[in-house]
Amino acid sequence: MNEALARYCIELFAPEDAVLAGIEARQTALGLPAINISADEGKLLHVLLRAIGARTVLEIGALAGYSGVWLARALPSDGLLTTVERDPRHAALARTAFAEAGLARTTRVIEGAALDVLPTLQPGFDAVFVDADKEPLAQYFEWSVRLLRTGGLLLFDNAFRHDRVVDPTDQTAETEGVRTFNRLAATDPRLVSSIVPIRDGLVVAVKTGA
Ligand code: DHB
Ligand code: MG
Repeated sequence: MNEALARYCIELFAPEDAVLAGIEARQTALGLPAINISADEGKLLHVLLRAIGARTVLEIGALAGYSGVWLARALPSDGLLTTVERDPRHAALARTAFAEAGLARTTRVIEGAALDVLPTLQPGFDAVFVDADKEPLAQYFEWSVRLLRTGGLLLFDNAFRHDRVVDPTDQTAETEGVRTFNRLAATDPRLVSSIVPIRDGLVVAVKTGA
């Protein structure tokens, strides 16, 4: 999709409000990389959560809370977004973002490494959004499937890894992690999966069996 079309889609379907723009501005001011999801991707996640009537969502990797706002806004007032974030500065930013968005009561940020935190969580999530470090993705995949309820959604950002998944000279642990996640999502008998070429690629899967 070219730039003009991407802008058209966002302006029409996913215009940003002051809260979302503020999160991005804060990220920039603090010198953090602008690696949050795009608004049209956020809107797609939001629509998918609404479509299944999601009440509980797990996010792995918060950054400054941008994607978390899109996710949490899809939940009812008694819903809960659980975000796991390793970097304490990012966790603090995400809490600020959720408070500003009026989402403090429907969100919780758990500070810690995902592989330490995931085993402590109760299974049964309606959706899991994976958007964290790329090397341990095989393990994030397994935990995500385990923590999802049957009928729940597995959502994975950066499925293209900036086109590097199809560069055979890229054998880095991160790109291999993304390739592994994609292959597992495509072939695991517990899932039915697709891949959406929005921004940097989004895997969308439903857990059909245990
Ligand atoms: C990177 C990570 C992301 O999750 C993303 O969406 C874009 C870039 C990165 O580590 O470069
Ligand atoms: Mg990402």
